[in-house]
Order: sequence, then C-alpha cells, then structure tokens
Amino acid sequence: MKVKAFLTLVLTGFFLSGAIAQTMSEEEIKERIMPVGKVKVAGAVDATAAPAGPRSGKDIYQAACTACHAVGVLGAPKTQVAADWQPRLDEKGFDQVWKNAVNGIGAMPAMGTCGDCSEDDIKSAIEYMIEGV
Ligand code: HEC
Repeated sequence: MKVKAFLTLVLTGFFLSGAIAQTMSEEEIKERIMPVGKVKVAGAVDATAAPAGPRSGKDIYQAACTACHAVGVLGAPKTQVAADWQPRLDEKGFDQVWKNAVNGIGAMPAMGTCGDCSEDDIKSAIEYMIEGV
C-alpha cells in the first residue's frame, strides 16, 4: 500500500511538473512573440518620422520651431499670422529676417536650436512660417 501511495505521488508529481513545463513554454512563446510585435510597431513609427528625401520647410518647422512660434512664446512672431510677420518683413526684408534666425535675435536662439539644420533649412522653415502672410 505504501509503495502504491508513493508511486501515485511520484506520478502525480511528474504529471504536475509536465503541466507546469507546458505552461512555462507557452509563456516563453508569448514572450518571444511580443518583441517581434513591438519591433514592427517601432519600425512603422520610424518610417513616418523619417521620410525619404529632403525635409520640407514644414517638417523642419514642426521639429524645431513650433514650440515657440505656434503660440508666440517669449514674443516670437506667430506662425502664419500676418500681423506678427509683416512689420518684420517690411522693416528688415526677408534676407535680414533669415539672417537673424540663423544668428539668433533677442530671445530667439541661433538656428532656432535646430542642431542639424543648414541655413537653407532655416530659410524653408521661415518660408513655411510666413506662408500666406
Ligand atoms: C526658444 C524659442 C524659439 C524657437 C525654438 C524658435 N524661435 Fe524663432 N523667434 C523666437 C523669438 C522669441 C523671436 C522674436 C525675437 C525678437 O524679435 O526679439 C523669434 C523670431 C524669429 C524670426 C524673426 C527674426 C526677425 O529678424 O524678426 C524668425 C525668422 C524666426 N524666429 C525663425 C525661427 C525658425 C526658422 C525656427 C526653427 C528652426 C525658430 N525660429 C525657432 C523664439 C524661438
């Protein structure tokens, strides 16, 4: 009787460990699948964040200038608001306004803090900001 009980215990133990091993391997499978899904999502986001070809003025504006120029932080002329831009353009002309953005003016940091912008990138961002002005 005792041997039978022992055997039952051992067999139950085998059965249980088998069942646990199976759930663990399912967990492992889930864990292996998850990163693949995440990588795919990250890849999709990257594809839209870095479009092929040169950046448009709007791209540069949205990356570097919108923080201040959308709502006029520190008195920044607001994007596509003629009343904010026309006096500057009338007084200085486009080239001087562009030069000031490149070198910085008042509270406006040089290049609008866009570390990887060329002077031409700044120009196209300004052209986007004064569109329709
Ligand atoms: C940290 C805030 C900030 C950021 C970021 C910023 N600007 Fe400005 N910008 C200002 C402020 C403030 C002024 C007004 C400066 C003044 O006239 O004293 C200004 C003025 C300007 C002017 C007018 C210059 C003139 O001579 O009247 C241009 C053009 C300009 N910014 C372009 C840009 C561009 C392009 C970017 C992005 C690449 C950018 N700014 C990012 C704050 C910012």
